[in-house]
Amino acid sequence: MFAISPVQPMLFEQRPIFVKRDDLLHPDFSGNKARKFYHFLSQDYAHITQLVGSGSAQANSLYSMSVLAKQQGWQFDYYVSHISDFILQHPNGNYAAAIANGANIIEVGQLKLADKYQQMHLDDVVQCIVASDYNNKNSLLHIPEGGRCEYAETGVAILATEIIDWARLRNTKALKVFLPSGTGTTAAYLNKQLLQQQTNNNINIEVLTCSTVGGDDYLRQQFSQLVAQEYFPTIVNDGHKYHFGKLTQRCYEMWQTVCQSGIEFELLYDPVGFLVLKHYLQQHSQWAGDIVYVHQGGVLGNQSMLPRYQRKFGYSE
Ligand SMILES: Cc1ncc(COP(=O)(O)O)c(C=O)c1O
Repeated sequence: MFAISPVQPMLFEQRPIFVKRDDLLHPDFSGNKARKFYHFLSQDYAHITQLVGSGSAQANSLYSMSVLAKQQGWQFDYYVSHISDFILQHPNGNYAAAIANGANIIEVGQLKLADKYQQMHLDDVVQCIVASDYNNKNSLLHIPEGGRCEYAETGVAILATEIIDWARLRNTKALKVFLPSGTGTTAAYLNKQLLQQQTNNNINIEVLTCSTVGGDDYLRQQFSQLVAQEYFPTIVNDGHKYHFGKLTQRCYEMWQTVCQSGIEFELLYDPVGFLVLKHYLQQHSQWAGDIVYVHQGGVLGNQSMLPRYQRKFGYSE
């Protein structure tokens, strides 16, 4: 269904690393959405008529789910906690593209919900709404926020196979695979699959990830909902606490630096990923194996993130 994504060399912090270009997998299901939603694209879901999702109004997954729903002819309801006035007045990026695909975006704050819902996490609120407000349960597919569900493993397993095949061809003996985490779904399943698929253990592979949302403990908690502890990836950090979506000069500068390689990275996860990777490499300067950074796509979101950065910190050349 998807071609094998290419691996490209790039110079980072004066050392070669390799970028697994999952962003090139598909224009609509770029990066980890292609992996996470592969299951729904490859299996028979003819009985489904209604898709329900949730997350932020600018999420990459909103756009990919809207394409999935459009392709399959499903109704698509997507719940958000809040839509900013700016996006409502200037729809762009993932939000505008999803609406163009027919997504029905519902602001939970505007619904008349019982008080008990006020303190609940969006995913849990949506679970309750699905249970009470939708009659068509047999034809309904609910994908939790960020595609955090067991179905994601089917496609991430293919990513693991591609990485192992690449490493074997290169005769790599030691490999560190780095990818920034949101829900941790991609990193957790990738590590599990790399460990399970490499039965002869002839390549020493370690998956490194960092938190971009909620800190290391929160990420570990997310892993525990998906995989057994033996499959938890290594969480690394650079001592900074990152607030998801917060615009910082450090992130903006790192994004500008890595984009000079000629590869466009995205602005929410990748700047944090590269800042943490930089710190890790400084701490492990003697390490001589290969490093693969997984580009998880999402550059459509730059259409809205970049103008926000430019308004705050000025234009890059
Ligand atoms: C570009 C990009 N990078 C990283 C992530 C984090 O992925 P996960 O939620 O599987 O940790 C996402 C979210 O899906 C993403 O869109």
